[in-house]
Amino acid sequence: KQIRILEQITSKFHLTDAHLMHIEKRMLDEVNRGLGKATNRTANVKSFVTYVHEIPSGRESGQYLALDLGGTNFRVILVELEAGSRSVKMKACKHEVSQKLMLGPGEDLFDFMTGCLVEFMKDHDLHGRKYHLGFTFSFPTRQRQLDRAELTHWTKGYKNAGVEGQDVVTLLKRSINKRPELDIQVEAILNDTTGCLLACAYKRPECAIGIILGTGTNASYVEDMNHVELYEGPRPRGCKSVVINTEWGAFGNTGSLDIIRTRYDHDMDSNSLNPGKQVYEKLISGMYLGELTRYILVHAIELGILFDGEAQTLLSVPGGFPTKYISEIEADPTRSTFTNIKQVMLELDISVATDFDLQVVRYICECVSTRAAYLAGAGVASLINKVARRRVTVGMDGSLYKFHPHLDRRMRSATRRLVSDCIQFEMVLSEDGSGRGAALAAAVAEKQRKKFI
Ligand code: BG6
Ligand code: GLC
Repeated sequence: KQIRILEQITSKFHLTDAHLMHIEKRMLDEVNRGLGKATNRTANVKSFVTYVHEIPSGRESGQYLALDLGGTNFRVILVELEAGSRSVKMKACKHEVSQKLMLGPGEDLFDFMTGCLVEFMKDHDLHGRKYHLGFTFSFPTRQRQLDRAELTHWTKGYKNAGVEGQDVVTLLKRSINKRPELDIQVEAILNDTTGCLLACAYKRPECAIGIILGTGTNASYVEDMNHVELYEGPRPRGCKSVVINTEWGAFGNTGSLDIIRTRYDHDMDSNSLNPGKQVYEKLISGMYLGELTRYILVHAIELGILFDGEAQTLLSVPGGFPTKYISEIEADPTRSTFTNIKQVMLELDISVATDFDLQVVRYICECVSTRAAYLAGAGVASLINKVARRRVTVGMDGSLYKFHPHLDRRMRSATRRLVSDCIQFEMVLSEDGSGRGAALAAAVAEKQRKKFI
C-alpha cells in the first residue's frame, strides 16, 4: 500500500518522450517570440540582445578585471590574457553575499562590490594605472549597448530596492566614483550564460551555446543578426551574428508548463519570493529542487509512508532540505549503500529512518532531479536545433551541473533523443566561465567599438 501511495505522489514527475518533444517545440516558439518585434512584449522568454558580436579570437592580450555577481557568490577576478595561447591566468577572490545584502537597498549591494574590488586591488598591488573591467551580472537585463543594461526584474534570492528599471552599469560607476583611488573603465556588462559561452568559445570555437544550471538556470546562444528584429542602434560592420540571452527561466510563466506541474510545484511557487514567475527555473535549478523535495517529503510523512508518520522538525522549516542533499544522496554508489543518505539524516536530526524510509527519500530525490535533467535537456535541444550547425559545443556551468552526480548523463540522453540526427553536439564544463568571459568581453569591447559606423 505504501508503494502505491508513493507511486501516486510521484507519478506526475515521470516525463514521457511526448512531453519532452512538446517542451522542446514550445521553448523554440518562445525564444522566437522573444526575438520578434511584434511578439516580444507578451513573450515570456525575452531573448535579450547582448550586443556581444564577437567570439574572442585568441589574439587578445593584457590584464583585465572582472566582477561576477552570480546566484550565491560575488567574485573579483584578475585575468591575464596572452595572445595566441588560448589559456588564461586568473586570480580570484570569492565573497558570499549575505541575505541582508540581497534584500537591502541597491546602493549597499553596489558599494559592497566596489569595496571588495578595492580590497582585491590593494591585495594584488594593482594601483597606479587604469584597468578595463567586464561585469557579469546574472539577472535579466534589457541592453541597448554593450555597456548599458537595465535590470528588468530581480530573480533568484535578490530583491534590492532601487535597481529594477535602472542601468546597472551607471549604478556600478556611481559606486566606483565614490572611491577616488580607483581608475576603472567599465567596458562591458554580460549575463553569466554569455560569459560561459565566451569562455568556452575561447577554447573551442564551435561553441555556440552557454548554459547555467546553478542557483538559477538560463541559456545564451549565437543568433543570426537577420533574425534579431529588436537590435537597437547602428549595426557593426561585418558582424553577422550576435549573442542572445534567452532568460529561459521565465518559460512557462503563462501556463505552458502547467500540464507537467504538480501540487508541490504550485505550493512552492506560491511561497517563493516571486510567485508565478520563473516557472521553468523553479522546475530545474538549485535554488528550488531541494525545497520542492522537502514539500514532497513533508506530504509523504503526513500520508504515513515515511518515518512512521512522525513529523520531523528540521524538515518542516523552509529551506530545511538544501539541493546539495539531493546531490549527496544520489551520489551513494549502489541502491544498497546508505552512507551519504544516513549522514543527511543525521544532519536533519532524523533518527527513526528505516532502510525502507531511506529508499523512499532517495527515490523522491531521483524523481525531482531526473525531471529537472530532462527538462533542461529539452531546452538545450531546442537551442541546438535552432543553431543548426553540423557540430555544436555547449558550454556548461553552475553548482547543480557541477555537483549533481547524474544530471549531466540524464540531460544528455534527453537532448540526444530530441536533437536532429544530423547534428553532433557535445556538452563541456566551462568552469568559472563567467569571470573569464567578462574579461574577454572587456578585451574585445574596444576592438568592437571601432567597427561601429
Ligand atoms: C559561476 C559563475 O561559475 O557559475 C557565476 O561565475 C554564475 O557568475 C554561476 O552565476 C552559477 O553559480 P551558482 O552559484 O548559481 O551555481
Ligand atoms: C536567473 C537569472 C539569469 C541567470 C540565471 C543563472 O535565471 O535571471 O539571468 O543567468 O539565473 O544564474
